[in-house]
Amino acid sequence: MQKQFFITATDTDAGKTYFACLLTRALVLAKYKVAVYKPIAAGCEEKTDHQGNKMLINQDALLLQQSANCQQPLTQVNPIAFKAPIAPHIAAKKCQENISLKQIEQGFKLVAQQQSDVVICEGAGGWRLPLGEQLFLSDFVKHTEQQVILVVNIKLGCLNHALLTYESIINDGLDCVGWVANYGEADKIKQTTDDDKQLSLSYVDDNISELTELLPIPLLAKLPYQQDFTVAAKQIDLSLLI
Ligand SMILES: Nc1ncnc2c1ncn2[C@@H]1O[C@H](COP(=O)(O)OP(=O)(O)OP(=O)(O)O)[C@@H](O)[C@H]1O
Ligand SMILES: [Mg+2]
Repeated sequence: MQKQFFITATDTDAGKTYFACLLTRALVLAKYKVAVYKPIAAGCEEKTDHQGNKMLINQDALLLQQSANCQQPLTQVNPIAFKAPIAPHIAAKKCQENISLKQIEQGFKLVAQQQSDVVICEGAGGWRLPLGEQLFLSDFVKHTEQQVILVVNIKLGCLNHALLTYESIINDGLDCVGWVANYGEADKIKQTTDDDKQLSLSYVDDNISELTELLPIPLLAKLPYQQDFTVAAKQIDLSLLI
């Protein structure tokens, strides 16, 4: 049966796309067929195609498309796109549009029909992303009953954000199958002084230990700063997911 994972995070810029691409690549390397979905994206670049049609290109969707192996067109990977780099429902309002849950779910159906072994879907922002009219992106995850993976950006405040997000996912009746400790940002500090590095890395270890005790789900990967996706993908323990 097809596995469907929804990647959420403690916040925007926490590493959802980064982890989603790593997981996709790890699965592709392990010979699985993987389709990807980024239902809503804001902060897109306007481009004109060969026929002169204007298109909004989202960087996350491009990276996901390049990591997967189902030859999906970009409009299937990312059906709802806005130019302004702001909360999507506010961007929609400014263009006199509504974000429709039905459109998100129809787009997901198309992706799920790609006969893949796994669908990897990246959220936008954090767990409770508003769509307007009292709807949230988490409603889409509820309706489609995807398994949720929580990416935690290890930084000051992450314990509270991680626990609240985990609680919300569980209270929504969903299965949160694992969490990821992304400490790329903290690890990058090592390029400054040795003192900074020591402080930053012991802080990372302490936070990861705390969360390991507090979250009753497996830690799927610890991600240091690494720009090479193929190298970083080796940090993921696939046996915990598949
Ligand atoms: N462990 C890491 N090593 C190196 N770079 C990283 C790491 N984690 C994240 N990054 C980089 O940090 C930036 C933010 O990460 P990413 O785009 O994955 O966040 P996001 O949660 O998907 O954000 P958004 O909410 O905008 O979709 C990206 O440039 C990404 O490549
Ligand atoms: Mg992203």
